[in-house]
Amino acid sequence: MRITSLEDYHQQYQKSIENPAAFWDKIAQNFYWQKKWDSVYEADFEKAKFSWFKGAELNITENCLDRHVRKNPDKIAFHWEPNNPSEDSINITYQELQDRVCRFSYVLHEKGIGKGDRVCLYMPMIPELVVAMLACARIGAVHSIVFAGFSSKALENRINDAQCKLLITANSFYRGSKLISLKEICDVALENTPTIENVIVYRRTIEITPMQEGRDTFWFDELSKAYKECDPAVMNAEDPLFILYTSGSTGKPKGVVHTCGGYMVGTTYSFENVFQVDENDVYWCTADIGWITGHSYIVYGPLAFGATSVLFEGVPTYPDYRRFWQIVQKYQVSHFYTAPTAIRMLAKQGEKYVDAESLTSLKILGTVGEPINEEAWEWYNEVIGQRKCPILDTWWQTETGAIMISALADVTPNKPTFATLPLPGVLPALMDEDGKEIVFNGKEIQGNLCIKNPWPSMARTIWSDHERFKKVYFSTYKGKYFTGDGALRDADGNYRITGRVDDIIIISGHNLSTAPIENAINEIEIVGESAIVGYPDDIKGNALYAFISLKEGTSDEESIKKAILEKISQDIGAIAKPSKIQIVEDLPKTRSGKIMRRILRKIAAGERDFGDTSTLLNPDVVEKIKAKAIS
Ligand code: WTA
Repeated sequence: MRITSLEDYHQQYQKSIENPAAFWDKIAQNFYWQKKWDSVYEADFEKAKFSWFKGAELNITENCLDRHVRKNPDKIAFHWEPNNPSEDSINITYQELQDRVCRFSYVLHEKGIGKGDRVCLYMPMIPELVVAMLACARIGAVHSIVFAGFSSKALENRINDAQCKLLITANSFYRGSKLISLKEICDVALENTPTIENVIVYRRTIEITPMQEGRDTFWFDELSKAYKECDPAVMNAEDPLFILYTSGSTGKPKGVVHTCGGYMVGTTYSFENVFQVDENDVYWCTADIGWITGHSYIVYGPLAFGATSVLFEGVPTYPDYRRFWQIVQKYQVSHFYTAPTAIRMLAKQGEKYVDAESLTSLKILGTVGEPINEEAWEWYNEVIGQRKCPILDTWWQTETGAIMISALADVTPNKPTFATLPLPGVLPALMDEDGKEIVFNGKEIQGNLCIKNPWPSMARTIWSDHERFKKVYFSTYKGKYFTGDGALRDADGNYRITGRVDDIIIISGHNLSTAPIENAINEIEIVGESAIVGYPDDIKGNALYAFISLKEGTSDEESIKKAILEKISQDIGAIAKPSKIQIVEDLPKTRSGKIMRRILRKIAAGERDFGDTSTLLNPDVVEKIKAKAIS
């Protein structure tokens, strides 16, 4: 399955495009199936109906656990590192993980959960979250993980949309120094979730836990009754594996549905080829399992491949900014995969927290989640990678299930801020405003990013709303999947994701993308982060509003604003100069670290009603920004 050279990459890519059925048929032979497929894939873009490995039967957990246990039971699946470094860490072997999953699958069975039932998981980053996910998959139940930072309202909406029967949670936990009383948040949601019959509570802290007789039980009490295990359910390749709600910055969140067979093949194939993990490597993805990155590249991909991973409960800032690098040293991490926002945040602290000694085990670095600006890329490369680690800028989405465009470590070249080349099996297209594909003939092109072919790990539908699935992804460009992102392709064929296409702003008839303006601003020494949004202007149509956070405080905002305007004029042109610049303490962020532009747009437009801000990482900064907004 592994691509070993640039030449091999080109060959594999060619094969995957010329004869996708033969290509994926061969890849899929590397997995354990109870029955093989009747057809490799079927696709109907018109109806947005896709299937992969139809007719095949499998259980993904046999691929993630049993087949490794047979060969190498004592290999460590996870080094679990707790939030507080003074608490003991835990090593979990593949054998132990399998035993725990099997026992918990019996607990689920005893709770009346069966094939196709939905189970909501609202948990911290503890091994029990992985156990609960895999136990669901073992018995054929569909897990719906809600990030344990979402509010009770968000939890309630997601439980009700998927009609979950069971909720699995923890009593409370610490994120950094902050105590999060998860069960109390659940109890508020549970007042309005009629489909939930039972709640299983893992006792993560000694805090007193409110429990409702007859409905709520403790994880340990349930396990003590689990004296046997459940046989793995025989799943059809196209049966749903999980539902995951996308962040929903506009409207109702979408329950993206992934299925058993194609998702397994896509995540494992991409994991192996992008990261090129070897037998003795230690891989660490810092994402939360509550997001797709955690689903695909902490749990399913690495486990199906048989890797050893770090599973970290905490945050990069606790007890201080050294934490990430201390963990890298402790476990001799070779592969480190994180988000640009974490890189920028750590870079902002300077180098005093980074001890080069602690980074010597690193071989491969990765990023995901948003475009990485040049300055952050350089810091990652120089300070963390010591200029010796390839940087994999991996582009993909909740809906794509697996990485779609990325360099392959030590196989294909990287280029700063470019995701570079599509993985085999991925055929991107750039579209112009008239809906036509822009033909690439060796000159740089730019447009809206679509994918022209089906791929195994693609989402199959939006839970209980197939029409919406069709409309959002398959109706903008006929016969293509529309990503909602813009991209450019350089003369060498490398892709650079420029950001959501809805960030494009038209000023005096000129199309401006905010990302390059932000990049220019970020290059100014004192600037920490920046976000540019458009707001309506009587004469120009739109004007730009810049929100800027600084690395350190200043008493001279005026000269900074002047420097920003000069830099933009220099780098892009006067047309890109913001009409308003506001220096802020911090930018509002989603829990996954993305700048919440929707709120900044509203502030810029003079609106004062922002809807629900409780899902933000830092809701209090919104009030502070609003108080000083420039009208
Ligand atoms: C953005 C996260 C630039 C993009 C896996 C996409 C990126 C959205 C990159 C999906 C990248 C993700 N470079 N932009 N390497 N990776 N994005 O669903 O806008 O949370 O559409 O999936 O993140 O976010 P999601």
